[in-house]
Amino acid sequence: MLMLACKAAKPVVTPNTAVVATNNSNHDIKPEWLDIAKDMDGSATMEHLATGKTIYYETCTKCHGWKDARKYDPVAWERVLQAMIPRAKLTPDEAHHLRLYTLVFQKS
Ligand code: HEC
Repeated sequence: MLMLACKAAKPVVTPNTAVVATNNSNHDIKPEWLDIAKDMDGSATMEHLATGKTIYYETCTKCHGWKDARKYDPVAWERVLQAMIPRAKLTPDEAHHLRLYTLVFQKS
């Protein structure tokens, strides 16, 4: 009886991925990320990466929790973006910056 009560009282810990993600400094844009971005788009700037990051953490979490791009290979991620960019109603520029940030983030 006593043992059963103890077992039931154990708290269930559900990690909040969004909080973990935003507190994780691995997600911060590092100066060397610009070199990786420039390999994909020669006109990429730190501002483009920052815009992409904001969209990824704010607009892309409106309908569901934060999704880790690193869990997808680039082909699968492109399929996700093709489906999600229209859902998020991004402009072509916003879509470009989001793609750039997430592709660099995948390599981090
Ligand atoms: C208008 C709501 C909405 C917005 C905004 C949205 N999503 Fe989604 N997303 C969904 C729904 C609904 C699903 C689950 C059903 C599905 O996969 O079609 C989903 C699923 C996903 C998945 C899982 C797909 C899989 O099959 O593994 C990823 C990753 C994802 N979204 C990323 C994003 C990204 C990145 C953005 C920002 C560009 C975004 N979402 C914006 C509604 C949204």
